[in-house]
Amino acid sequence: MSTTFRGDATDSSPLFRPLQVRSLTLENRIVMSPMTRTHSPGGVPGPDVADYYRRRAEGGTGLIVTEGVAIDHPTAVDHPDVPRLRGDPAVGGWRAVVDAVHGAGGRIIPQLWHVGPLWGAMSAVDPALGSMRPSGVWGTPGITSYSDDYIARAQVPTDPMTDHDIAMVLDAYARAAATALEAGFDGIAIHGGHGYLLDSFLWAGTNQRGDEWGGDLTRRTRFPAEVVKAIRAEVGAATPIVYRFSQHKQQDYTARIAETPEELGVILGALVEAGVDVLDASIRRFDLPAFEGSDLSLAGWAKKLTGITTMAVGSVGIGTSLRESRTRGAAPTVDNIGELERRLAADEFDLIAIGRLHLADPGLATTLRRGGPLPAFDRDRHESVLH
Ligand SMILES: Cc1cc2nc3c(=O)[nH]c(=O)nc-3n(C[C@H](O)[C@H](O)[C@H](O)COP(=O)(O)O)c2cc1C
Repeated sequence: MSTTFRGDATDSSPLFRPLQVRSLTLENRIVMSPMTRTHSPGGVPGPDVADYYRRRAEGGTGLIVTEGVAIDHPTAVDHPDVPRLRGDPAVGGWRAVVDAVHGAGGRIIPQLWHVGPLWGAMSAVDPALGSMRPSGVWGTPGITSYSDDYIARAQVPTDPMTDHDIAMVLDAYARAAATALEAGFDGIAIHGGHGYLLDSFLWAGTNQRGDEWGGDLTRRTRFPAEVVKAIRAEVGAATPIVYRFSQHKQQDYTARIAETPEELGVILGALVEAGVDVLDASIRRFDLPAFEGSDLSLAGWAKKLTGITTMAVGSVGIGTSLRESRTRGAAPTVDNIGELERRLAADEFDLIAIGRLHLADPGLATTLRRGGPLPAFDRDRHESVLH
């Protein structure tokens, strides 16, 4: 099924207003959301990866955030086919990707990734060996898609991160950011959500430290903020930094880092002060209210609390969230573009990241400019793009 949501082409849609973030000029508000695709053998992105991203740039997407990319640390990412930002072959591969996207008029930034406690979730490596965890714990499993077998292995406690571990990881983030600029990327995205390393410092369920890296919310925010500062120091004032955060964790989709807007303000305020330019509020539906008593989305709250540029994400054009669509087959198409445009026009948030529809239709931005019809996302058909 497909949906035509607008009778004629229009450039007056708030989706097609340009935006400036530091040195980065975006032609429109449509962002390709980061999607891991294990398509880079040995961590090196090849010509097929360049083609994959080039097609989305040709399709008119304003900004591409790459799949999660491993920083230069031994336990950053456990899957051998996830791309890296270290070593000449990988940097050369990324340069070709960036050139292809720029050649098609697009903009692209890499999502720097350290999986932290979720080491071993994507491959058979032993989660108890080398996993970087603030307090040695994985977190209490709640609503999760992980297998019982993986959870049982991951529950084995590890040594909490030492000061040396913390220094090494900070350094690895800064190095990856420098390498990204060398490869020609237009900015830096940081994966700070979903229960991975940076998020595991924010979440009380994984950070039970009594030193300066743990304790109250301000102290739990310190490590993510230091990562941002280290990256800002490396990339200078012109380069935009995008930071993804989430309430939910893959260990437990109902977990939260902030129970109230005030708590969220403490976290986001520290990240902005450290140098973040764009807050990317990861949630399963862009229009879900984040806190009781208000219709404001998580991205809306991030903007209200900090005043900086924010990005929403989740279920644009799709009736089931990412988690629900893990079941096979076609997901229902839903016309929520009018609601998206209404929120953008009201400046509730500034950018919209779109994941699955970018798999279904590389020319998604052109489709949206034309007014539809919206592509239908079918997991059986479109995940082959990823694996
Ligand atoms: C196959 C797949 C892989 C993903 N990998 C990542 C990732 O590497 N980093 C990340 O921050 N989010 C990742 N996500 C989440 C998406 O960026 C996005 O937030 C989510 O799919 C919701 O957007 P959508 O409803 O438009 O698909 C992934 C999603 C999918 C479908």
